[in-house]
Amino acid sequence: MFGLKKKDKPQIDKEQLELIKNAQRRIKQKKRLYIHFVIFLIGAVFLIIANTVLGIGKNTMFFGINWFVYAILAWLFLFLYHFVNVFITSKFMGKAWEEQQLAKLVNQQKIRIEKLKQQIEKEDLPIAKSEVFKQQNSKVVNNLTIIVAAGENNEIGKDNGLIWHLSDDLKRFKALTSGHHIIMGRKTFESFPKPLPNRTHIVISRQANYKAPEGVIVVNSLEDAILKAKKDTQPFIIGGGEIYKQALPFASKIELTRVHSNFDADTFFPEIDKTLWKETANIFHTKDANHEFEFSFLTFERK
Ligand SMILES: NC(=O)c1ccc[n+]([C@@H]2O[C@H](COP(=O)([O-])OP(=O)(O)OC[C@H]3O[C@@H](n4cnc5c(N)ncnc54)[C@H](OP(=O)(O)O)[C@@H]3O)[C@@H](O)[C@H]2O)c1
Repeated sequence: MFGLKKKDKPQIDKEQLELIKNAQRRIKQKKRLYIHFVIFLIGAVFLIIANTVLGIGKNTMFFGINWFVYAILAWLFLFLYHFVNVFITSKFMGKAWEEQQLAKLVNQQKIRIEKLKQQIEKEDLPIAKSEVFKQQNSKVVNNLTIIVAAGENNEIGKDNGLIWHLSDDLKRFKALTSGHHIIMGRKTFESFPKPLPNRTHIVISRQANYKAPEGVIVVNSLEDAILKAKKDTQPFIIGGGEIYKQALPFASKIELTRVHSNFDADTFFPEIDKTLWKETANIFHTKDANHEFEFSFLTFERK
């Protein structure tokens, strides 16, 4: 008596329920049509009797035909309309038909979405991935500018000193860098007699205890140097050869003074890859009493 199991309820699934409901609806529709038919027959007989036996509207005729014929025909038309509704419209375009059409539409949409997904995976995803990859791997720092003077063969120095004296180039260097951070290698820093006025010096050295005058910032890597200058709207990399080479991938601009001659040198600027950089300015300067060589101020911006 305690182990009595609950009786399993008979399960009717949704589809079966729908079929039953539909059959009940069809029966009701057909019943109504049948009643309409019977009423129509009785009504037609009544109209005939009313006219022929009772003499109602006996003289009312249209085009030589008694009015009751028109009335019966009109009713017959209504009955036919009802008939068509039950056996054609409701059967073929009823609720089931609507659901079928909806299912077809949903299916078509699913196929379209699937195709779009495949297209995105095939075409757009690799592009998006490569953009993300580029962004993640790009070292470029906004407005980080390399400033350099180099001969025709990219010569920049010898015996830790410059190879020429071009006063207009020095003036331009001063005008561009004043008020900004200037990042340099330890050897370039040591080539100056003293720190340059109106500029924040950042010196890069691997030495743990490199001593520099007050106000000069010493760091142990190029990345740290760039970080120290991050609030500057335009920090400059001012050399020398080792630092230029390492800083080139980070720079977004190069201010190059191309000295139009060949020189004996031991330090060089790296080749500018024209596929990555585009020349945006080129101002030529002639030789004169203060300038032993012809030179050009070139500006390159990263493409
Ligand atoms: N023409 C121009 O526009 C121009 C401009 C600037 C300089 N220059 C010339 O370039 C020459 C100097 O260039 P350079 O290549 O010999 O020396 P540099 O680049 O000025 O300095 C090299 C030094 O920087 C430090 N350093 C380099 N990479 C580092 C890193 N990743 N991490 C930490 N420290 C690092 C090291 O210092 P430690 O040895 O202390 O570790 C290294 O010895 C000179 O002749 C100078 O006149 C020319």
